[in-house]
Amino acid sequence: MPEAPAQDRPFTPPGVIVPDAPLPYFHALWKLMDNPLEAWPKAVYEEPYFQRGDDRQMFLYASDPAMLKDILLDRIDAFPKDWMFDRVTKPALGEGLLTAQGEAWRWQRRAAAPGFRPDNVAAMTPVMVRAAEAALARWRDRGDGARLDIATEMTGVTFQVILDTMLSGGEGIDVAQAARAITDYLETLGKITPADLLQWPTWTRVALAPRGYRAMVALKAMVDRMVARRRHEAARGDLVDLLMQAQDPESGRRMDDVLLRDNLLTFIGAGHETTALALTWSLYLLGADPGTAARVRAEIADVAGDATLTDDHVQRLTFTRQVVLEAMRLYPSLPLLSRMCAEDVEAGGVKVRKGTFVFIPIYAIHRHRLLWTDPDVFDPDRFSPERSVGRHRFAYLPFGAGPRVCIGPAVAQTETVAILATLVRGAELEPDPGHRIRPVMRVSMRPQGGMPMTLRLRQDAP
Ligand code: HEM
Repeated sequence: MPEAPAQDRPFTPPGVIVPDAPLPYFHALWKLMDNPLEAWPKAVYEEPYFQRGDDRQMFLYASDPAMLKDILLDRIDAFPKDWMFDRVTKPALGEGLLTAQGEAWRWQRRAAAPGFRPDNVAAMTPVMVRAAEAALARWRDRGDGARLDIATEMTGVTFQVILDTMLSGGEGIDVAQAARAITDYLETLGKITPADLLQWPTWTRVALAPRGYRAMVALKAMVDRMVARRRHEAARGDLVDLLMQAQDPESGRRMDDVLLRDNLLTFIGAGHETTALALTWSLYLLGADPGTAARVRAEIADVAGDATLTDDHVQRLTFTRQVVLEAMRLYPSLPLLSRMCAEDVEAGGVKVRKGTFVFIPIYAIHRHRLLWTDPDVFDPDRFSPERSVGRHRFAYLPFGAGPRVCIGPAVAQTETVAILATLVRGAELEPDPGHRIRPVMRVSMRPQGGMPMTLRLRQDAP
């Protein structure tokens, strides 16, 4: 029988190579430093939970939605963020919103929340569309057939969006330099190192990574300069003003320059890298599955014709949104969250001992055999309203869940759909068949070696 054309077959994009059984101790240790995703055995994808360890240290991988609900929501006080997370993030982000705990976290969250109200998000859409159009114009200058690293391209676009939407353009911040510094930080200090495993003081891990340290100092200096300038300028109504004016209603505390910088770096870091990755993986999937790309283009033509995309159009691009949701299922920007169990407690009916390291392996949860049909297949229709009925809230966690859920899902979803739609209208991107896709974890999940793709300009683009 003749083979069916590629687009008629379910498309199974490459993923992490999963070991059949838990790796031997030293191999697992090495993987933890090289690419933790490759240390998770099959059981993490097949069992409701998986425990490993001994009397000194237990590790729990939780995939059962009921257990996850206890960890992230119902018993959250028993599962604070853990010391390993602190070691990786705090050198750069200090006590900002992502890293703070308890009351110090609560008031910062309240302070930032108005910046993410639906009316504020809707007002950001034209900025997002303009950033994507500017990228398309640069691509046109490069010419048909140009080879682009889409991961770097998307980082540049989303970085500009954060600066333009939340920091009034962020004068004094050099996008290329800052994006390079963030990559340098993540590739050095964003990894677990021997100093972490041996629990040496945090300064040792920083001292052992001069490239990451220099990157961190440069980033902090850039933001410090911006804060110093803004303290003496009239208000502009952006996130910087919101945070500068915020006051803890209980203690009367305001953000000093250091906390303000920690938060601005948090928003820059948490807000652009994650969104850039969601776009990178979405563009890869569309490039590899032309049938789905054609459906996306048809939807955009149907909703917007030749007009520049508006927020109203973007909200009506339901299939395009499903593509992004499916890309974030297969390749979640943050593939792992971790917590520490602070007291003997039950989660999902299972006893968890105080001191247990709790892993929330989002990448594996999103491909879990008990939670998804054909989990490794790219199928955006699984997010259609009909097929989403009955899905457990805690089976799909690209933005986390519970009180510590991401503050920016509405921004991120509007941004990814607006930028993706603008780009696919003007260009087709072909994956490089010679490039091996290997997702690696450096806090976020990046394609190793970037995402090289070949540009095909669309002549009939509006
Ligand atoms: C596709 C894009 C994004 C993804 C996948 C994502 C994912 C996440 C996840 C999983 C968490 C929870 C971390 C945890 O529980 O340990 C989180 C927290 C956070 N995200 Fe996002 N995020 C995205 C976009 C954004 C944007 C656009 C912003 C802001 C501009 C943002 C700012 C934050 C902040 C400040 C936190 C900490 C919230 C808190 O602890 O109260 N994120 N994000």
